[in-house]
Amino acid sequence: MRNDRERDLAADVKIPYLGFGTYLIPDGEAAAVVEEAIRAGYRHIDTAEFYRNETGVGAGIRKGLEREGLSRRDIFVTTKLWPGNAAWGQTPKTTETTISSLDESLARLGLEYVDLYLIHAPFDREQRLAQWRGLVALKEQKKARAIGVSNFHIGHLKELEAAGLPQPQANQIELHPWSQKPQLVGYLAERGIVPIAYSSLVPLSTWRSAPGHDSAKTDAMKSDGRRADSPFKALAAKHGVSEAQVLLRWGIQKGYPVLPKSTNVDRLRQNADLFSFHIDDGDMAALEQLDRGDGVAWSVGDPTRAA
Ligand SMILES: NC(=O)c1ccc[n+]([C@@H]2O[C@H](COP(=O)([O-])OP(=O)(O)OC[C@H]3O[C@@H](n4cnc5c(N)ncnc54)[C@H](OP(=O)(O)O)[C@@H]3O)[C@@H](O)[C@H]2O)c1
Repeated sequence: MRNDRERDLAADVKIPYLGFGTYLIPDGEAAAVVEEAIRAGYRHIDTAEFYRNETGVGAGIRKGLEREGLSRRDIFVTTKLWPGNAAWGQTPKTTETTISSLDESLARLGLEYVDLYLIHAPFDREQRLAQWRGLVALKEQKKARAIGVSNFHIGHLKELEAAGLPQPQANQIELHPWSQKPQLVGYLAERGIVPIAYSSLVPLSTWRSAPGHDSAKTDAMKSDGRRADSPFKALAAKHGVSEAQVLLRWGIQKGYPVLPKSTNVDRLRQNADLFSFHIDDGDMAALEQLDRGDGVAWSVGDPTRAA
């Protein structure tokens, strides 16, 4: 059983399994929520340039560390490069603007380095190698202790390999029992790239239920989440925990750091209680059967798959 609190990301970098997600937390609310998360035991915070909350997240990290008597090295901070998407009228970042983007993120966060810097998505075929070269340089400059990607398919990873570039240390992707991505996860395992799971709570009927927080593909799935015979409900009852804890524990037992987001203090605390129970092998095997494919988050097509 893998129930350590952290796993190796690189020879000298460990990533805590329990992370705190901050997507859709407004900048003005982020400081208080992140401070509360650190108080509740989270030692891994996930943000991004795209979330427009790095200033608040950074303030929350400083307050949380001070309040808990911790230092910078006690917390693992991830942020992400917004790579720019020409299809959305944006200018794709170059190696140079990738490097200046992390400087800007660090200034907003009030940090000298991040523990992990990711390319948020593989948008631009021409520029993604240039952006990756920027991340490699940022690691050499020690502004990022580890570097990785997000939403990359096997084809995108193969492009980096074919260019002779160092491989990413992590790939942050949507992973939960309804979207298990066995081929991609197998590819990552072969190369020692750590999968980080986002949107672990998609199977809950209440997932992103606030106005404007929804994802287009979730409606049909949500009705399933309300079913009385949901396997997640059964496992939650068996262990005396919530369905959210079951979904998060599944991720950790698969070896994936998880990033639950909540602005509700009770749920935020509940989501941090993941090490007091264990899903047995038979139940893990039953959950393995629930895979439905690609997931609900926005994603970019695999260049190796026919369009
Ligand atoms: N790299 C990427 O492209 C990408 C994409 C998506 C997400 N992410 C990262 O992963 C993090 C997590 O993903 P996510 O924010 O999409 O979704 P999530 O953490 O799977 O789910 C969040 C939703 O579930 C609710 N929730 C949280 N805990 C709950 C509980 N115990 N019981 C019932 N409902 C609960 C939250 O509402 P309340 O706040 O009201 O509790 C919110 O609606 C993000 O915040 C972000 O940091 C990365």
